[in-house]
Amino acid sequence: MNKTICLLPGDGIGPEILAQGVACIKAVIERFNCAIDFSEALIGGAAIDAGGDPLPRKTIDACLAADAVYLGAVGGPKWDGLPMDKRPEKGLLGIRKALDLFANLRPATLWPELAKACLLRPDIAARGLDLVVVRELTGDIYFGQPRGIEERDGVRTGFNTMIYDENEIERIAKIAFDLAMTRRKIVCSIDKSNVLEASRLWREKVIEVARRYPEVRLTHMYVDNAAMQLVRDPSQFDVILTGNIFGDILSDESAAITGSLGMLPSASLGEKNPGLFEPIHGSAPDIAGQDKANPLATIISGAMLLETGLKMPAEAAAILKAVSETLKAGYRTADIMEDGKKLVGCREMGAEVVKRIKQA
Ligand code: IPM
Ligand code: MG
Repeated sequence: MNKTICLLPGDGIGPEILAQGVACIKAVIERFNCAIDFSEALIGGAAIDAGGDPLPRKTIDACLAADAVYLGAVGGPKWDGLPMDKRPEKGLLGIRKALDLFANLRPATLWPELAKACLLRPDIAARGLDLVVVRELTGDIYFGQPRGIEERDGVRTGFNTMIYDENEIERIAKIAFDLAMTRRKIVCSIDKSNVLEASRLWREKVIEVARRYPEVRLTHMYVDNAAMQLVRDPSQFDVILTGNIFGDILSDESAAITGSLGMLPSASLGEKNPGLFEPIHGSAPDIAGQDKANPLATIISGAMLLETGLKMPAEAAAILKAVSETLKAGYRTADIMEDGKKLVGCREMGAEVVKRIKQA
């Protein structure tokens, strides 16, 4: 039986970038003479418009029936006025929870072809930047109860709960240490244990898990210091292990310092259900439908999907090689444009990558 990828185009630039990602996967399966089936479902604002629910049951079922999920992006100003549990973001948070995708891997690297885009001082960038943020994705203040907005003594009050149990910490820590064993064997665990109890338990538990990985060097950093160290010297990081909210913030920072948010992919993985693969950037409503978006983060997420989700490493490598060759040939979308390069739109960038996948 063929493997199935469930497509969730979502909102804003989501459909445009995902179309290019799918074109690359189709090109690579044609070249390697294999077959993959595609299904498609609604999520986020698109699902709200169709039926009032950002994550219809049908979408969860379609994801569960697939071998991997490939998502564009969700959200946009059109749905900003909706109550919290009806917003497009609820679709994304909901599918992560429904599939128990507790481990979010967000690699940040410098593409040599885009060295000039890097926001760091050249002497800092020269030390290198090759890290993965391992972000816990189904716990923390994102999902903790109680939460709400209520009146307390006549004053409107908003509240959320930062919460982690030791099992949640242990399973995400294991992912980080296993990943470090395949890399430079350094884990930096990031918390705020000087202030927060949830972080204190986090640190204790991570130290316990680390005993099972004697070859891995474990360090700890408070999140404020980590935010600073990421711009001061990101070369010190290999695997960054952290919770949901700190990981949300630090992964945007790690991506931004590479200078090309439009280049970075992500994988959200669980123990049994299909993984979900998506670019780390959002739905960019300001440029949606204008053929301006950079599809490369989505295309690279497609390579991660093939490698990690469907265990097709050769096919994944072929996509990455074609991306690198396309950049070497000088093609750039607006977000990574420099003097002397060829400015292209989303479709043309995708077509250039497809061409190089087929040529090889
Ligand atoms: C991300 C995004 C999401 C998050 C939003 C869209 C709910 O920022 O994937 O990093 O906060 O997790
Ligand atoms: Mg984020």
